[in-house]
Amino acid sequence: MTVSPQFEYKNGILHAEDIPLYELAERYATPLYVYSRQALRQAWERYAQAIMGRNVLVCYGMKANSNLAVLQEFQRLGAGFDIVSGGELARALKAGAQPELIVFSGVGKQAWEIRAALTAGIKCFNVESSAELERLADIAHEMGVRAPVSLRVNPDVDAHTHPYISTGLKENKFGIAIEAAPALYHQAMQYPSLEVIGVDCHIGSQILEIAPYLDALDKLLTLITHLAEQGIVLKHLDLGGGLGIRYTDETPLTPSELLDPVFEVLNARGFGHLQIILEPGRSLVGNAGILLTRIEYLKHTEVRDFAIVDAAMNDLMRPALYEAWHDVEPVEPHHNAPTRTYDIVGPICESGDWLARGRTLALEQGDLLAIMSAGAYAFSMASQYNTRPRAAEVLVDGARAHLIRSRERLQDLYASEHLLDTV
Ligand code: LLP
Repeated sequence: MTVSPQFEYKNGILHAEDIPLYELAERYATPLYVYSRQALRQAWERYAQAIMGRNVLVCYGMKANSNLAVLQEFQRLGAGFDIVSGGELARALKAGAQPELIVFSGVGKQAWEIRAALTAGIKCFNVESSAELERLADIAHEMGVRAPVSLRVNPDVDAHTHPYISTGLKENKFGIAIEAAPALYHQAMQYPSLEVIGVDCHIGSQILEIAPYLDALDKLLTLITHLAEQGIVLKHLDLGGGLGIRYTDETPLTPSELLDPVFEVLNARGFGHLQIILEPGRSLVGNAGILLTRIEYLKHTEVRDFAIVDAAMNDLMRPALYEAWHDVEPVEPHHNAPTRTYDIVGPICESGDWLARGRTLALEQGDLLAIMSAGAYAFSMASQYNTRPRAAEVLVDGARAHLIRSRERLQDLYASEHLLDTV
C-alpha cells in the first residue's frame, strides 16, 4: 500500500510518476531522494482550492524542504514563504520569491538576519520576545526604515502531537504568553521604526485535529478585539500549525477542512476583514517524496533480522529523533525470498541508526527499498555524520527526471576545512 498516487506499483514495480525507481537508482545511485512534481502541485492545489475567494496568504514553511527547485515550483504557483533564518531568506530570494510575501519566524533572529530581511523588504517579522522587539526597532531605526511586525503569541493549546514538534504550550520556548501580549503590543507601538500589523501563533506540526486550531483562533480573536478597543488595529492573523500528513494510517485534515470552520468563526465574529496567513510545510511536500535506498547486507542474528541499507539516520533523522514511522516499500517485490520481520538500519555507528523496525518483508541483498513520505524534514535535516556525503535529490515530472541537487563528492565534505599550518 502506498501513501501517494504518484508513487505506485505498475506491473509489479514501484514507480515515481512514469519512471520505475530502479531506473533512477541506476542513473543517480543511492541513497536518493525522489520527489514528484505532480504531487507537489496537487498538494498546492488543495490549498489553492481552500483559499479561493478568501483573503488568505499561504506561506510555505520552507524548512520542510528547501531545495531551490521545490521553492521555485511553489513560488510559481503563487506561494509566499515562511522563513526562519538568513539562509532561508537567501534561498527563497534565489528561487525567485517575492519579498513582500515572506514572513520571518523564529526565536533567535540575529542582527545580520534582521538587516538582510529589512533590506529585502519582507512582509512581516513574527517577533517572539521583548528583547527581539527592541533589537528589531533599533536596527530598523539605524537603517531608516519601518519594520512590519506581528507578535507571535503562545496561546497555550495542546496540539496533541509529538512533544518535540509541539510548539504552542506555555512550557515551549516559542512566542509570548498570551496574557503578556497586550503590554508588548503597547511597547511595540512606542517605536516609530516599527509598524504593528499582525498577530501570529504556531501550535505545532503534524496536527490531525481541528480543535487545537479553533482554540488558538478563539484566543487570538479575543486578543485582537481587546487590542482594537485600545486603538491597536491589526490587519492579519497568522494561524500557524502544520496540518498532518499520512505516514501510515492517519486521516489528515484537508486545507478546506481547516479553513471552512476557521472562516465560519471569523465571519460569525465579524472578522471578515482580517487577512489569514497559513504556514504549511509538511502537508505541501511530505508525501511528495521518498528516500530510495539499496540493501547492502542482510544480517540474521539470534534475536533480530536486519536489513542494512545504504541510507542512514544522517539522511532521514526522523525515526532516530522522534521514533517516527515511515512506510517501507520494496521497489521490485519478489516472493521467493523468505519473509521475515526486519529492522531496516543504516551503516552509522549508533544503535539509534534505524529507519524502520519490525517490518515483515521478503528481502534479498541488493534489493531497492523506498522509504515513503520523505519529502518533508528528510533532506532538510540531513547531515554528513560519519563523513557521509549528502545524497542527491531528483524531481520527477512524468517521464522526465531532473537532478535538482547533485550528490556531494568526497572532496565537498572537507572543502571548507583547514589543516593547521604549524608542525
Ligand atoms: N512555521 C513555523 C514557525 C514552524 O515552526 C514550522 C515547523 C512550520 C511553519 C511548518 O510546519 P509544518 O507544516 O511542516 O508542520 N522536524 C519535525 C517537524 C518540525 C516542525 C517545526 N516547525 C519533523 O520531522 O516532524
